[in-house]
Amino acid sequence: MMIYLDNAATSFPKPAGVARAMTQALENSGANPGRAGHALALRAGRIVENCREALAGMLGEGDVSRVAFALNTTDALNMAIHGVIRSGDHVVSTLIEHNSILRPLSELSRSGVITLTLVPPAPDGTIEPQAIAAALTPRTRLVAMTHMSNVLGTAQDAAAVGALCRAHGVHFLLDCAQTAGHLLLEPQRWGCTMLALPGHKGLLGPHGTGALWVRRDVTLAPVRQGGTGSSSQSMFQPRIMPDSMESGTLNLPGIAGLHAGIRHALSHREAVRAQICALCGYMREELLNLPDVRVYTRPGAMLLAFNVEGISSQEAATMLDARGIAVRGGLHCAPGVHRFLGTLETGAVRVSPGYASTREDADALLLAVKRIAAG
Ligand code: ALA
Repeated sequence: MMIYLDNAATSFPKPAGVARAMTQALENSGANPGRAGHALALRAGRIVENCREALAGMLGEGDVSRVAFALNTTDALNMAIHGVIRSGDHVVSTLIEHNSILRPLSELSRSGVITLTLVPPAPDGTIEPQAIAAALTPRTRLVAMTHMSNVLGTAQDAAAVGALCRAHGVHFLLDCAQTAGHLLLEPQRWGCTMLALPGHKGLLGPHGTGALWVRRDVTLAPVRQGGTGSSSQSMFQPRIMPDSMESGTLNLPGIAGLHAGIRHALSHREAVRAQICALCGYMREELLNLPDVRVYTRPGAMLLAFNVEGISSQEAATMLDARGIAVRGGLHCAPGVHRFLGTLETGAVRVSPGYASTREDADALLLAVKRIAAG
């Protein structure tokens, strides 16, 4: 039986209700949601809207139309970035971002559409709001930032960054890939204008699900155009949310599964976060005692990044896999944070427990690392 410690990539296993909800959606309501008036289409539409309502509720948003479904966080971030940027804008982001932010912004910068400033983290891995403030210019339209690096595992001060974005009238896009389902998300209180999240990580939904929240006064240019089942007489994309962002048939079974995942995740959120932090804290303390192991994550992190002396992270991950333990080595699609850690060459082994992880899993990981370190 595999010990799964790669929940920062995708949570596994899913609660039993997720697969059940997906199967039921396909078997009992498998029509096209929002595209016809017959009973099956309406039933499918209700599945979609119920999940949308759950996401909006989780984000403290009373207007459910402000939540659009996406394929994953990357998709939601692209919708937000390309939806808000205009030629000549300046954008501020950080060096600890995932490529889901770094790449769209770097492409826009390379093609001359925007200028880009990437703010480095402080020595402890936090993004200091003053560093963001210092990077703002009169041309800055957007600050795009991760809520929690997928390598460092500690939350950034979104409220402080949001407050200064609000004060400067700048959009604030928060990437909640690692925090949705684990932390209370309060985008309106924090001063966000957009928030991207995955369905398949902390919210315990299936792959291919995610969402973008957009504040009520913000209108995004739609990245994709096509059928929405609304305003069909017009050859132009509607500008109302969520139709503006949701062209084509939605992932009905995925959304049904996501709703089941959300219910589970939110009803256990605090306990699961405490359990994950405790397991990471325990493993961190134990690994710090091993002379041949270098630990990068700080106390309180929701994951653990480390290397074994003389062994590349990919090699170590493969050795752990051979012992039945699933972790992720390499760069985690986040080159800047590895440059910051000095691990651009080696990558790091990332261990990320989930709601189903146990002390026995942590002990098995520790024993395997000790054996690998001992050669
Ligand atoms: N972004 C995911 C990770 O951190 C896939 O592994």
